[in-house]
Amino acid sequence: MSAVMMDGKALAAKVKEGVRNQVEAFRSRPGLAVVLVGDDPASRVYVNGKKKDCAECGIYSEEYHLPQEATQAQLLELVRTLNEREEMDGILVQLPLPAHLDEREVLLAIRPDKDVDCFHPFNVGQLMIGEQSFQPCTPAGVMRMLEEYGIDPAGKHCVVVGRSNIVGKPQAMLMLQKNATVTICHTRTRNLKEMCLQADILVAAAGRAGLITADMVKEGAVVVDVAMNRNEAGKLCGDVDPAAAQRASYMTPVPGGVGPMTRAMLMENTLTAARLHGKQ
Ligand code: GUN
Repeated sequence: MSAVMMDGKALAAKVKEGVRNQVEAFRSRPGLAVVLVGDDPASRVYVNGKKKDCAECGIYSEEYHLPQEATQAQLLELVRTLNEREEMDGILVQLPLPAHLDEREVLLAIRPDKDVDCFHPFNVGQLMIGEQSFQPCTPAGVMRMLEEYGIDPAGKHCVVVGRSNIVGKPQAMLMLQKNATVTICHTRTRNLKEMCLQADILVAAAGRAGLITADMVKEGAVVVDVAMNRNEAGKLCGDVDPAAAQRASYMTPVPGGVGPMTRAMLMENTLTAARLHGKQ
């Protein structure tokens, strides 16, 4: 078998077009504030991408760039100001923050109704009980992609490899909400190969190039590779050996799979926030 490669780029364009059409019907324009601290090159690329997405979708955006040596007090003051600004429906503080800053305190300071990343503990708790306003962008992008390709997780065994707060844990919750049977594995799981071989849907989000080899994929499984690593040659790659496509029924490429979907879901979350603020 050779897997159907799921085209995240094309699907993200479709999602963004949908957002744009919805924005046109809003009484006032949704807005997103993106906060970048320091000069991490990867973060700069991500922030630029988010601003571009906003422009494409008709969402108003403002970027706030604080210097690398910004203090916790300065960053908290900025978040509090943005919390009060009606033009700003969503606030995204790009992670990781420089090491001297307390990420947890910053995420707690963002008003939950503006937390388009869904990182605030209130929203994480809402997700756990299935009452969420927002879904974290990457796991939500995975669910949308499966839906688009007609893959229903109900009753299937979904194995999530990775337990991060940003992807692995919320991914497991969203799969559970869709009635999958869920196993969470990680780099310390002893019999990772046996676990992966049981997966009808395998979501790789451990951040280790080459962790999932082709012989760990069940014939006909759906393989979603969330990771974004660089191999020894400096080339972008996921956690899954591309040779797994010979066994999978559907698989996501890296790049061009989940990544563009993450960005598109941020636009949807910004619309959700604007609706919460009565802008529709
Ligand atoms: N850094 C890497 N991924 C993300 C994300 O989804 N949101 C934020 N705020 N920072 C990130």
